[in-house]
Amino acid sequence: MAKNAEEAERGLCARFVAFDESSPEIAACINLWNIRRGVNQAAILGYSVDSSRLGRGYATEAARAVVRYAFDELRLHRLETSYHPENAASGRVLRKLGFSVEGYARDYLRIAGEWRDAILVGLINGAWTE
Ligand SMILES: CC(C)(COP(=O)(O)OP(=O)(O)OC[C@H]1O[C@@H](n2cnc3c(N)ncnc32)[C@H](O)[C@@H]1OP(=O)(O)O)[C@@H](O)C(=O)NCCC(=O)NCCS
Repeated sequence: MAKNAEEAERGLCARFVAFDESSPEIAACINLWNIRRGVNQAAILGYSVDSSRLGRGYATEAARAVVRYAFDELRLHRLETSYHPENAASGRVLRKLGFSVEGYARDYLRIAGEWRDAILVGLINGAWTE
């Protein structure tokens, strides 16, 4: 079994794709990674939009639906993610979803062989109940 499928089966991740009404092509991918239960009840949110469909609100709409799923269906208490300081569009998406900045991490992710800084953000499920 592929690693992602195996992790999904074990409840460690959940992957989603979004379509627009006019095309069978995938418009956006949204993922919940590293789902932690126990004392955390948290996951990492990730998303990307097809490069020909940027700036139409797709990331915001699709990620908002996944946040709702994470809180209402998976009953997670917290979502977190990060974005590169120069990725203003991603920062804006996260602000629109209600995430707040929690920190700045130096050399946080190694992308294409280079360590990159990241802005750390989080969102709490204010309606969480046990
Ligand atoms: C980041 C990304 C997901 C945004 O997707 P999108 O569908 O274009 O996002 P939306 O249209 O929902 O919202 C983008 C917002 O950023 C704003 N924006 C875009 N470029 C911007 C820039 N250079 N500076 C400031 N704001 C910017 C838009 O105006 C919009 O805000 P608004 O609704 O207030 O006008 C997309 O660019 C992408 O897939 N990037 C590559 C993968 C990635 O970076 N994923 C996130 C990892 S943290």
